[in-house]
Amino acid sequence: MAYETIEVRVEADKVGVITLNRPKQLNALNDQLMNELGEALKAFEADEKIGCMVITGSEKAFAAGADISAMAKYSFADAYRGDFITRNWETIRSIRKPVIAAVSGFALGGGCELAMMCDFIIAADNAKFGQPEIKLGVIPGAGGTQRLPRAISKSKAMDMCLTARMMDAAEAERSGLVSRVVPLDKLMEETLAAAITISGFSQITVMAAKEAVNRAYEGQLSDGLMFERRLFHSLFATQDQKEGMDAFLNKRPANFTNQ
Ligand code: HXC
Repeated sequence: MAYETIEVRVEADKVGVITLNRPKQLNALNDQLMNELGEALKAFEADEKIGCMVITGSEKAFAAGADISAMAKYSFADAYRGDFITRNWETIRSIRKPVIAAVSGFALGGGCELAMMCDFIIAADNAKFGQPEIKLGVIPGAGGTQRLPRAISKSKAMDMCLTARMMDAAEAERSGLVSRVVPLDKLMEETLAAAITISGFSQITVMAAKEAVNRAYEGQLSDGLMFERRLFHSLFATQDQKEGMDAFLNKRPANFTNQ
């Protein structure tokens, strides 16, 4: 499929890379971009060769937020009846393979929220995160008020949502918003290395791990522990568990078949 607002490529035959591509608007996220992003994610999800996906932007901006010029004229009815943003921002939540955000430059508003919807964030040292919606007379609408407190504490989330200040990469790492910070010129190399590592594991096991961690994020500890235990038990029904443990015991590399 031909896309206009994103670029899509496959690396190492097993990593699907999606680059947000509205450079003049600092990758502001409009309907077309979010529709195309959803389509690309679903296509990689359906492709058996792909074990992991990466979403990235440009050096200057991962994404500077939802497109303000598109939103400015919205009425309450447009937003509510049009199901803004659920209609096309939530596709990523249905993706079962891992999705890594590789963030350089600005990740603001919906851009920060999109990064947080990914499974983890690797940041370049020039990354800046923020939820500046309050300056526009709105609040975050794609999960920012919910995911930020879980990621970085209530106090820091309040600070960001109420003052609109930006957090640099070092603070983002210190706060737990990102998993690692790397030099800008190493961002794709490091991210692809992580994605290739993940793609080398059993897809079944990878999906189970993602599902279990997400359960911790969304529910009660006792429910999450039970959910994890049952998934853990069920993995003993896979050939990949037999293969992985046999490979360890026989000091050889594992050859996973996703069965
Ligand atoms: C539409 C945007 C945009 C956005 C930047 N641009 N951000 N257009 N929507 N979110 C456009 C500018 O209008 C400008 O267009 C061009 O991109 C370059 O931006 P500049 O401002 O000239 O660049 P710079 O001076 O370097 O400043 C960078 C910036 C600033 C700090 C990132 O652009 C900025 O503050 N942008 C808005 C950030 C924001 O408020 N985001 C939250 C949006 S609300 P022209 O035509 O003049 O060259 C949101 C709600 C989410 O995300 C809710 C759920 C989805």
